[in-house]
Amino acid sequence: MYTVRQAGPGDLAGVRAVARRFGNLGQWPHRPDYLDRELDNGRLTAGFADGVVVGFGATFARGGLTHLADLFVLPEHQSSGLGRTLLTRLLTVDAPRVTFASSDPRAVALYIRQGMRPICPLLYLRGPLGALPGPGAARPAGPGEEAGPDAVAAVAVLDADASGGRRDADLAWYAALPGVTTVHTGTGYAMVRDTRDGVQVGPAGGQTTRHCTDAVLAALARHRAAGTATLCLFGPNPLLPVLLEAGFTIADMDVFLSSGADPLALDRYLPHPDLG
Ligand SMILES: CC(C)(COP(=O)(O)OP(=O)(O)OC[C@H]1O[C@@H](n2cnc3c(N)ncnc32)[C@H](O)[C@@H]1OP(=O)(O)O)[C@@H](O)C(=O)NCCC(=O)NCCS
Repeated sequence: MYTVRQAGPGDLAGVRAVARRFGNLGQWPHRPDYLDRELDNGRLTAGFADGVVVGFGATFARGGLTHLADLFVLPEHQSSGLGRTLLTRLLTVDAPRVTFASSDPRAVALYIRQGMRPICPLLYLRGPLGALPGPGAARPAGPGEEAGPDAVAAVAVLDADASGGRRDADLAWYAALPGVTTVHTGTGYAMVRDTRDGVQVGPAGGQTTRHCTDAVLAALARHRAAGTATLCLFGPNPLLPVLLEAGFTIADMDVFLSSGADPLALDRYLPHPDLG
């Protein structure tokens, strides 16, 4: 009943229509967006019913680590096996893999049966930038420099250490998008993008928990004029109480699943919600 294959440029409009049904493009008012990147990476897979896209999934690679970034099936086609077929096609190799699962029990069950285990919550926070402490509140630190193109390689090294693998081309693509700035403190980094309603922070990280915190607070201080920020943090991140004390609220919550070997530094890495 369903066919599944790698998506081509001609399938992108159908994939977008599915993504829009789930509100996935709300933080991406302009093209290119993360779906364009998934297509260009050759890692976008679509499911069709009678030639029409009714579901899709996609991954991003960080070194040998695979991040399952998307798995969506239109409501009228759910629970008919398409999600499982897409997943099997996307994660064929027995290699390290991670994902952020929604609260849909079908998603969590499919990922666990695919060899991943729930590790901790991933909290999506949104809030005002006015009441935040500056960087180095506990220890003096520089405010961080805005990274030029030459610093992208240094940022890629920090990112790989915190996120579990190299992804230089994806970072360079993101850094070059309009409205994206990268703060580089030497020991930490934070990428920030202007969206239509404030700024979105991530990926961000540091050599230590403190370095990560300093880089994120430095980036937020630089973008205070934006008024509002969104970030996603794993449960063990010490920035969580800091942000909640400063008036941020929990807008959403996913579950982080991993096939093991602790590829991510949960206390010193803030992922990007779509890029991982
Ligand atoms: C999650 C989603 C992609 C799964 O796709 P799907 O086509 O509906 O799922 P499938 O029919 O292929 O598989 C669902 C499996 O979950 C199982 N399942 C259903 N409810 C379950 C439950 N409460 N506990 C455990 N397993 C459950 C089903 O038995 C089925 O397994 P089976 O095929 O071996 O019988 C789809 O339902 C969806 O788009 N949901 C909304 C968006 C979303 O949350 N996406 C996930 C983002 S991380």
